[in-house]
Amino acid sequence: MIHPNVQTAASASSDAENPSPSRLRGGTTGWARHIGKHARTIHTESLQALLAAVDAKDPYTRSHSLRVAAYADAVAKRMDRSVEDRRTLQAAALLHDVGKIGVPDQILTKPGRLTSDEFDVMRRHPQIALDILAPMKFLAQHRPLILHHHERYDGTGYPDGLVGEHIPLGARILSVVDAIDTMLSPRSYKSAFTLDDVRAELIAGSGKQFDPRVVGVALDWLDETPPLLRHIATRAQSRSATGSGRGQLAKDRG
Ligand SMILES: [Fe+2]
Repeated sequence: MIHPNVQTAASASSDAENPSPSRLRGGTTGWARHIGKHARTIHTESLQALLAAVDAKDPYTRSHSLRVAAYADAVAKRMDRSVEDRRTLQAAALLHDVGKIGVPDQILTKPGRLTSDEFDVMRRHPQIALDILAPMKFLAQHRPLILHHHERYDGTGYPDGLVGEHIPLGARILSVVDAIDTMLSPRSYKSAFTLDDVRAELIAGSGKQFDPRVVGVALDWLDETPPLLRHIATRAQSRSATGSGRGQLAKDRG
């Protein structure tokens, strides 16, 4: 999803060893372009390995990042964000919870409410993500979105308590769509919400947890109920079994 037009690593290395005549005719420019494509392949595969590590930590969050990336792009497109901004946002969405690799399993998958000490550990995951991703210099623009995806519009979020427009717009979008997917999904500590429940929670959190402008766009998108979303909501409802209620909402644990 990050680079849908990128070739596989196998074909990239094979091309590197056996340059085609057309590539040779491309001269320096052709090789530079090829090396760039090969580097992107390595980037993509590194990121996919990280995502697999996150998925392995918690079966409840499997594919969560993929859905958050898709939802974020849908909302960003409705907000007329540039193609470059949307690409950055999609990749940041894929990586937003990479820091959960550093959160102990017993906290990550704990049924029921987290203690305040456990929640303190959970709150470290955005900074852990930045630490993990630090060597990847090509993620410079993504870092602020990942770090601030749990900030709240009213300034009571974490890690920095940023307020309103001081929170990067991409992070404000991530916050809303992350909550949407978490609410729609069954987790170890809660059952899945219906689409109507999700709408109600977004409205309740508008101007408090969420940017009202992003909520408005997301509600319009939800009102259209894209087929994929309808399928996810229906399937999640049928899988919901734990039903331990809303306690610590998705938006807090996501
Ligand atoms: Fe998160």
